[in-house]
Amino acid sequence: MTPAKNPLVAFGAGKVILLGEHSVVYGYPAIAGPLTIGVVARGMPSRSCVLDVPVTADAAQKRMMRKAFARAAKLVGEPKVKVTLEPQLPLSAGLGSSAALAVATSRVLLQAAGQAPTAKATARLAWEMEQEFHGTPSGVDHTTSAEEKLILYRRVQAPAGVTGRARELKSPRPVSVVVALAGARSPTKLTVGALRERQARWPERYKRLFGQVGRLVTDAAKAVEAGDLEGLGDAMNVNQGLLNALGLSSPALEDMVFRLRSLGALGAKFTGAGGDGGAVIGLFSEPEPVVARLTRDGVRCFASQLAGPRAQGDIP
Ligand code: MEV
Repeated sequence: MTPAKNPLVAFGAGKVILLGEHSVVYGYPAIAGPLTIGVVARGMPSRSCVLDVPVTADAAQKRMMRKAFARAAKLVGEPKVKVTLEPQLPLSAGLGSSAALAVATSRVLLQAAGQAPTAKATARLAWEMEQEFHGTPSGVDHTTSAEEKLILYRRVQAPAGVTGRARELKSPRPVSVVVALAGARSPTKLTVGALRERQARWPERYKRLFGQVGRLVTDAAKAVEAGDLEGLGDAMNVNQGLLNALGLSSPALEDMVFRLRSLGALGAKFTGAGGDGGAVIGLFSEPEPVVARLTRDGVRCFASQLAGPRAQGDIP
């Protein structure tokens, strides 16, 4: 393999799950959309195929990143490129940083190996990396990042490399969320593992709850496509109640959910793995004043539009 001749640069978007996290692992649908921030990967010609891990990562994260990188690099013939990562997202906050990292890295590796970084090829390679990060992920995170659209996603048991089916959800109205960080976050592996134990012990009870979430997701997809933000928000609120029933919420997350609702959110819930802390989303028709207010109060937060028409001058 010849070394990459020019510097390469690629982006992997972070994500939020609008509804359906956790139950998506068990084959129920979820809705997820890309953030405008994520991870940038740069590739420089090098003597070997090597990853320069971000300084902000802790020792365990660095170990995992190197392992995931080696797995993906091997699959594309270890092109001679040094990949440097620049996360724009907080790592391990439930905002898909590992998927964004996997997608950005995969795009650089594919280009360095002389292959086109199509959404499909990128998703396939990123999936290999995601399995190192999360064990048995549903595939919703890296699919959202690779597709960069609001999608209705369902995991499928299929030939190697295909993890799920995604359909774009278009909305006639802007679907915008405020993302706020609350508490110290639990690792995804931990919350997913603990839920799996409860589910294995009381399968019928958990199947009923997952089924309820699945129905809400179907309702919410219809609401998105109809531009019914009130209906979408209500589905998000009920989803939060079910996530709590599944044992995945905490006082820090619940406090932020109620804070966003008190600021006028049409719906609010945690997004991602949940646990002791992490990211909470609120659906707002006008998110910017809410971000300004929360920032003044010392909350780490930002706004992101996931679908729908954009105001002129907005970054797509
Ligand atoms: C993590 O962002 C989402 C989970 O549903 C896990 C997964 O889908 O692999 C908690």
